[in-house]
Amino acid sequence: MIGIGVIGYGYWGPNLVRNFVQVPGAHVVAVSDVRPDRLVSIHKQYPTVITTAHFRDVINHPQVDAVVIATPVTTHYELAEAALRAGKHVLVEKPLTSTSSQGLSLIEESLRRNRVLMVDHTFVYTGAVRKSQALVANNGLGEIYYYDSVRVNLGLFQHDVNVIWDLAVHDLAIMDYVLPMRPQAVSATGMSHVPGKPENIAYLTLFFDGNLIAHVHVNWLAPVKIRRTLIGGSQRMVVYDDLEPSEKLKIYDKGITINNGPETLYRMLIDYRTGDMWAPQLDLTEALQIEARHFIECIETGQQPITDAEAGLRVVRILEAASQSMAERGQLVKLNAGRLAA
Ligand SMILES: NC(=O)c1ccc[n+]([C@@H]2O[C@H](COP(=O)([O-])OP(=O)(O)OC[C@H]3O[C@@H](n4cnc5c(N)ncnc54)[C@H](O)[C@@H]3O)[C@@H](O)[C@H]2O)c1
Repeated sequence: MIGIGVIGYGYWGPNLVRNFVQVPGAHVVAVSDVRPDRLVSIHKQYPTVITTAHFRDVINHPQVDAVVIATPVTTHYELAEAALRAGKHVLVEKPLTSTSSQGLSLIEESLRRNRVLMVDHTFVYTGAVRKSQALVANNGLGEIYYYDSVRVNLGLFQHDVNVIWDLAVHDLAIMDYVLPMRPQAVSATGMSHVPGKPENIAYLTLFFDGNLIAHVHVNWLAPVKIRRTLIGGSQRMVVYDDLEPSEKLKIYDKGITINNGPETLYRMLIDYRTGDMWAPQLDLTEALQIEARHFIECIETGQQPITDAEAGLRVVRILEAASQSMAERGQLVKLNAGRLAA
């Protein structure tokens, strides 16, 4: 039985506890939050779970083998490092850390201690995203032309991070999993509409080798909720709408054919192909349940997590580069083998 300790029981922490409670082979031992009202809430729902205001009580507890961190982004590094140093496996919320050097340092610590370090890129464990990844990997879409996502709503303004570290992190994590190619450079623009607060709207453009391009639009100040991604390929195109109750993924057999025959020597002809659309059957198991089971399996078997800390670090590097670009009003920032070069 793997003993689980959770640090942070605000908005997301309860989802993690609820899921780990249901994982065979796992046992939630202790939960920590600095807010007394949150501790009362845990005790009401899970009377046998130990509650404490001090995170060290969780990481030092002899029955805790793995620590799950669901606290604000700026605290991830300190808490994850302390847990790894105490010899515990760690699952940390997205984004992995606030800086890439912190991410790198956590990876080194996990390797030194031979402990699992995984990041909660939740969407990667959804049926829709796993199906999209399989389609791309099996060349079901042909050559990938673009990745275009919109994630907007009247959202909760975060205090410690801007909208890209809160929302775009999801899109970058999905893109990192679905596309086999890595972006080479990023240009980002954004704006704050609340004095003294970080940017609440942002547009990121990512450039890859060749003619693949990606765009991510995130906004906490939109009147409607949109969670939609388009992946355009030379053979087929995918629309992933996370708000659709069942048919979240639609695959369109649509595209263009370019005719360059002798009769069109002086004129390029573009023919439109409009075939069928279908919505594949998806696994509707809650993503966090699949992810929690995967974390336990990685601890038990020593396998590398799908969303390992390297994936977390790649996403943090893009967020860091995008933040730099945003500060320079959209200046292109290169992403070089993970090292930032302006
Ligand atoms: N994967 C997802 O889909 C998803 C969704 C929402 C939030 N998140 C992530 O989860 C994390 C937490 O976000 P949230 O919305 O739950 O924030 P929140 O502010 O609602 O909750 C954080 C909790 O951590 C507690 N806390 C802070 N420092 C602590 C410490 N040192 N020891 C113990 N408790 C401490 C706070 O009191 C608070 O209750 C963030 O990293 C966020 O990005 C992920």
